[in-house]
Amino acid sequence: MTLPGSPWLARQAGELTLDGHALRGLAREYGTPLFVYSQRAMQAAAGAYQRALAPQPHLLCYAMKANPSLAVLQTFARMGCGFDIVSGGELQRVIAAGGDASQVIFSGVGKTAREMEMALRAGVACFNVESEGELERLSEVATRTGLTARVSLRVNPDVDAGTHPYISTGLKNNKFGVAHDRAVPTYRRAAALPGLQVVGIDCHIGSQITQIEPYLDALDRLLDLVEAVEAHGIALQHVDIGGGLGITYTDEKPPEAGELIAQVLARMKARGHAHRTLVMEPGRSLVGNAGVLLTQVMYLKRGEGKNFCVVDAAMNDLMRPALYQAYMQIEACAPGAQATEATWDVVGPVCESGDWLGRDRVLRVAPDDVLAVLSAGAYGKALASNYNSRARATELMITSDGQVRVIRPREDTTQLFAAEQLVP
Ligand code: LLP
Repeated sequence: MTLPGSPWLARQAGELTLDGHALRGLAREYGTPLFVYSQRAMQAAAGAYQRALAPQPHLLCYAMKANPSLAVLQTFARMGCGFDIVSGGELQRVIAAGGDASQVIFSGVGKTAREMEMALRAGVACFNVESEGELERLSEVATRTGLTARVSLRVNPDVDAGTHPYISTGLKNNKFGVAHDRAVPTYRRAAALPGLQVVGIDCHIGSQITQIEPYLDALDRLLDLVEAVEAHGIALQHVDIGGGLGITYTDEKPPEAGELIAQVLARMKARGHAHRTLVMEPGRSLVGNAGVLLTQVMYLKRGEGKNFCVVDAAMNDLMRPALYQAYMQIEACAPGAQATEATWDVVGPVCESGDWLGRDRVLRVAPDDVLAVLSAGAYGKALASNYNSRARATELMITSDGQVRVIRPREDTTQLFAAEQLVP
C-alpha cells in the first residue's frame, strides 16, 4: 500500500521516514507531540499548481489558515505565491514571513473595520466581499482612509462539493457568500459605492473535494454571472475558483492540481473567458501530505469491549478526528520486536471521550513506541489549542537542503498563563 505523502514519506528498513529522516529518531531527539514537515513536499505541491497555471495570467494564493507557521509562509513566499487570508492577524503573519501584501486576497465573512483598514494600508490585491453590509462598511473605510479597495464578490454558486457538511461551503444554506440571484444587484451597488473598484468574482465551494465536476459546475455558474455583470457595464478581470482540492488521507484519489487546472482552463477558453486572470486559493493540498504528527505510546489498556492505546498527543494537538470524525492514517514509526498486533482506539490524555486520534486501528505497538499520524500538515497545528493547559507541540521543518530546523519550539506551560491576573 502506498503511504499518503509518498514519495516524501517512505519505509526504509522498517523505519518510517520523511524526506529521508527517520521519524522515530526525530521524536526521540525533539520530544513528542511533534509536527514534522517536509519543505520539499510543500514546494512540489505548489510547483504543480504553478506549472499548470503558467500559461494563464494567474495568482496562486496559499490559503494560510491550513498551516500559518512563518517558515511555511516563507517557503511559499519565496516561490512567488500570494496568500489567501481571513484576518488581520494572518496579514501580519504574511508580512512577518516576507510575503508580498500586493499578492494577498482577503477572504472571510466577518472582516472588521480595523482589519479592512490594515489591509487597505498594506495594499492587498483584493477583498473577497461576502455581503452587502460588508460592501458598505468597506466603502466607508476606504473613503475615510482615502484609499481604493479592489473588490470581488464571493458568490455562493449553490453547488454540492460532495464533502463533509462542516467543510462544505458553497450550498444555499451556508453562511458564506452572496446568493447567486443577488449577485448582479450587489455588483451594481459595489460599482456605485465610493472607494471601491470592482475587479473580480470568486467562490469557494468546500474543502477536501476529490472530484473535478463540482469545480466545473461552480465555474460555469461564475462565468454566467460574469457575463450578466459585464452586460451592466461592470468589467471583471479575474475569476477566483477558491481552494478545496482534497488530499489522500487513506484511499482517496483526488485529481492532481494540473489535471484540475487543465480542465478549468479548457472550460474558460471554450466559453470565451481565456483572457481573465485565474485566481486559486489552495490550502490543504499544498501542505497536508507534507506533514506528520508524531506521538509516543504511553499506556496500553486492554478492555472488554475495546483496547485503548493512550498516546501523548491529544485533540488539542490535532482536532480533526474529534471535530469532523476525520480518518487520519496512523503508522508505527518502527514497530519493535515486543509489539503484538491488535486493534486499538488511539486516544489522548484529554478529559473528553471525543479525544481520539483513530478508532479501531490495527497496529503493532508497545509502550514507548512512536506513532505517526499522517497527512497532518494541514489543519493540524493550525487548529491546536491549549485545552487542559497543554502546551502546543514543537514544529520541525526538514528544509530543502536536508537540514532539520525547529520552526517553533514547544510552548512553555508557564507562558500559557503568564498574562493572566489574580484578582485582589
Ligand atoms: N478559500 C477559502 C475562502 C476557504 O474558506 C478555504 C478553507 C480555503 C480557501 C482553503 O481550502 P482548502 O484548499 O484547504 O480545502 N478545518 C477543516 C477545513 C476547513 C476549510 C475552511 N476553508 C479540515 O480540517 O478539514
